[in-house]
Amino acid sequence: MLKVAVVGAGVIGLTTALEVQKKLGHRVAVTIYTSDVSPNTTGDVSAGLWTPYLLQETPETDVMRWSKVMHDYIHDLWKTGFAEEAGISLQSMIHLITDANEKLPGWGNIAFGFTELTRKQLDQLGSEHKKYYAGGFTFVSFTCEPCKLLPFLQKQFLSNGGELIMRKVYDLEEFAGKHEIVVNCAGLGAQDLLGDKQMQAIRGQVARVRAPWQFNTIMEGENYIIVNMDCVVLGGTHQENDFDLSPKDEDKRHILNGCCNLVPSLQKSEVLKHMVGLRPGRPKVRIEMERKIVNGKPMIIVHNYGHGGSGVTLCVGCAKDACQLVQEGVSTICKSKL
Ligand SMILES: Cc1cc2nc3c(=O)[nH]c(=O)nc-3n(C[C@H](O)[C@H](O)[C@H](O)COP(=O)(O)OP(=O)(O)OC[C@H]3O[C@@H](n4cnc5c(N)ncnc54)[C@H](O)[C@@H]3O)c2cc1C
Ligand SMILES: *[C@@H]1O[C@H](CO)[C@@H](O)[C@H](O)[C@H]1NC(C)=O
Repeated sequence: MLKVAVVGAGVIGLTTALEVQKKLGHRVAVTIYTSDVSPNTTGDVSAGLWTPYLLQETPETDVMRWSKVMHDYIHDLWKTGFAEEAGISLQSMIHLITDANEKLPGWGNIAFGFTELTRKQLDQLGSEHKKYYAGGFTFVSFTCEPCKLLPFLQKQFLSNGGELIMRKVYDLEEFAGKHEIVVNCAGLGAQDLLGDKQMQAIRGQVARVRAPWQFNTIMEGENYIIVNMDCVVLGGTHQENDFDLSPKDEDKRHILNGCCNLVPSLQKSEVLKHMVGLRPGRPKVRIEMERKIVNGKPMIIVHNYGHGGSGVTLCVGCAKDACQLVQEGVSTICKSKL
């Protein structure tokens, strides 16, 4: 049996570990090494909205392909009765645009019922919100709440015979001679682990509120109102290179004022929790294989990190690509052993 180590138990680590078990389960034993698990990962802060964001240098065709894989994966769970357990709901969404240069997204044909708003609708909403909207669209899509999805995935991983060890990894080379393949899904942790200078924290603060009358998701610039099963998530912020994990008062005000401007009744909502997460920002998602010789022992590292603000949307798609590299790694090891 070959041994595979996966570093990280966020959405990326867990989906990748599961994919490896699914494709290679009879040939490999998978162990996850991680500092944190749900509810303490970055994804746990997120509302888990399916929306692809373009990452500056990640090819658009990859983003679309990965996002489509996740959309199909969520849709399947939803159809087969796993909606509650995996934190999935299907809901109507509206996206409003103030910047006249912002293009319509390329994923309109993946989501359901993508429809551009008319000038009249935009003006109507604009007068309610005291803004000028240059564009906007509605669609129907999923939220897949990581605080539910992660425990669901973790349970699957363990019942497939996976092992999870909670500890910090200081150097990937420590696995040489113990695990033939290491899969690095450390998210922002890759900054320290590899000294990857392209990694950047993009701080996001949200407020989880109780507003059981809110049934649709609204996005307008930095502000968003995303409906989850047990709460509504109000956002948000995008602060580059800010590592502060404690909620800031000025951000609380910015979030609540902005969201109440869109939906005034949210003034009456009860704030349950303010939360902060650091998105693993990188100009380009890194899915790559690296071969090394450490103390005379060959070692294969597969990287899968840097998913920025759309790790939930991309996770299963990226897990499949990373798993493909693990499969290639396994075949080269098996050949060299003949
Ligand atoms: C406020 C906010 C809202 C968001 N909303 C959305 C959304 O609506 N839709 C969407 O698609 N995305 C959203 N995102 C982005 C999404 O949450 C992230 O892209 C995603 O969670 C990244 O997952 P990850 O597994 O790479 O990283 P993480 O969740 O950070 O996981 C990294 C894992 O690696 C472990 N680790 C790191 N370093 C080490 C080490 N040295 N040793 C051992 N273990 C280590 C950590 O403990 C952790 O388990 C949002 C993010 C934020 C902050
Ligand atoms: C999450 O973090 C809190 C605070 O550090 C800790 O008490 C709790 O045990 C952690 N949960 C898990 C499941 O690791």
